[in-house]
Amino acid sequence: MPDFRRNNRSTRDRFNRGISRPNRNNDRHDFSREPRGAECLTLRIEKMVQGGEGMARLEDGRVCFVAGALPGELCKVRLKFQKKDFTKGRVVDVLEPSPDRVKPLCPLYGKCGGCSLQHLASEKQAEYLEKVERENFRRLAHAELPEDFAIHTGNAWGYRNRARVVFRGNFGYDGAANREGAANRACFGFRGEESNNIVPFEKCPVLTDGLNEFLRGPAAAFLAGGSNRNSSGRRDIDVNIFDNGKGEISFFYPGMRKSEFDAHAVSHVEIAGREIEADASVFFQSNLGLLPELVNAVRKAVDDGFASGKATNDWLIDLFSGVGFFACILQDKFKKITTVEREEGCLKHAKVNLSVPTPFLKDSAASRNDAASRNCAKSRAPEIENISAPAEDWLLENVVDVPATLIVDPPRTGLPKEALEAIIKSSVNRLIYVSCDPVTLARDYAKFAEAGFALSHAEGFAFYPQTPHLEMMFVLDR
Ligand SMILES: C[S@@+](CC[C@H](N)C(=O)[O-])C[C@H]1O[C@@H](n2cnc3c(N)ncnc32)[C@H](O)[C@@H]1O
Repeated sequence: MPDFRRNNRSTRDRFNRGISRPNRNNDRHDFSREPRGAECLTLRIEKMVQGGEGMARLEDGRVCFVAGALPGELCKVRLKFQKKDFTKGRVVDVLEPSPDRVKPLCPLYGKCGGCSLQHLASEKQAEYLEKVERENFRRLAHAELPEDFAIHTGNAWGYRNRARVVFRGNFGYDGAANREGAANRACFGFRGEESNNIVPFEKCPVLTDGLNEFLRGPAAAFLAGGSNRNSSGRRDIDVNIFDNGKGEISFFYPGMRKSEFDAHAVSHVEIAGREIEADASVFFQSNLGLLPELVNAVRKAVDDGFASGKATNDWLIDLFSGVGFFACILQDKFKKITTVEREEGCLKHAKVNLSVPTPFLKDSAASRNDAASRNCAKSRAPEIENISAPAEDWLLENVVDVPATLIVDPPRTGLPKEALEAIIKSSVNRLIYVSCDPVTLARDYAKFAEAGFALSHAEGFAFYPQTPHLEMMFVLDR
């Protein structure tokens, strides 16, 4: 049974100064940061809830959300936060552990702000998240997820090809005169779980090997050689890093010169037989290993729409399109394609990505059993329109009065209210909704359901193992 009571004073002191070091000698979670004197209770955990916390009840009937706890466990819990109707706490000791509990792999578990589900066996995570999402959907949307709803899984570690890290350079001794020396004293970190402190790491087990190697080597040397450090000789730079799946690493940080951007930020990703251009300053999917399964699901949903007569191949509208990812992997199927994205930096890539309609490679995962769409791609190129605008503005100004296929992939906040209302008012009767936040997805679904849409298909994608996050795809029609 894990012993959570050990208190590593030196780690805590360093953490309080904002420069904590991973505690290599203690592979257990370090709870030393918990406020002293806060109330401790022994609680039985009823279930896991959205966000990955365990839920228990206090004697006074209030709910307690417990970080680091699993269903069925008896835990000693320190309360961190109390409100009239609910409380929050963190496990201090596990008195009766779940058979699914494992020792967190990473020494930064509980500190770095990510991977809060490491105490749950990797092979069990999808099963737990499925239960959480079924209940989440019932509670927020007052509906049932389809019985065949299932979660696709891939690699549990080393899967993450995109991240934002903080570079902390320390130039206190000799400035950048000795670039190698400066790089040696520099470190990369993540922003802390509950503060803005930077938690340094040497190797992050969910990042791809390519990203870890890049951070250990070329990245520090490059950033330590930069010129815009502040007068204290220390600077923190937020750096976006991206591994294109072939070991080629691109990166971006604010203030990057154009020549540096052109040389280091742009990437090309091969996915499902397409080459897609992006750069590290804009959004791109972060689990390239599992992405082909989402591509397959989306392509199948489009075909099912044609087959059912609910949608035609006249027009694909890709809203929240980023660099045109979904439009690109669907462009062989439509006569006309419109992409709409707010971030201007995406536009040039969307134009490139949709300028050459390449038929799918014969042996790509996405092209299996897909002869019809390959023929379509050979016969003609679609008319393409790439719009740089908020999706809600575009929807208000453009009447969609044909049975277009609409795909939306909004940020965690879900669909803006105006966008949702405009879709309901349009003649779109088939919608593919890709979401990285099941809570806002359930909220938006409830509004679509009121307007007569039904959930005809749902799939989950474990894009973020070791975390409680999940990617989902819904197909709605009316
Ligand atoms: C989850 S990403 C999806 C991007 C793309 N579909 C892909 O798979 O690469 C969401 C995108 O929506 C964009 N976005 C956020 N709010 C928006 C809005 N109101 N209108 C249009 N785009 C928006 C973001 O810039 C981001 O590129």
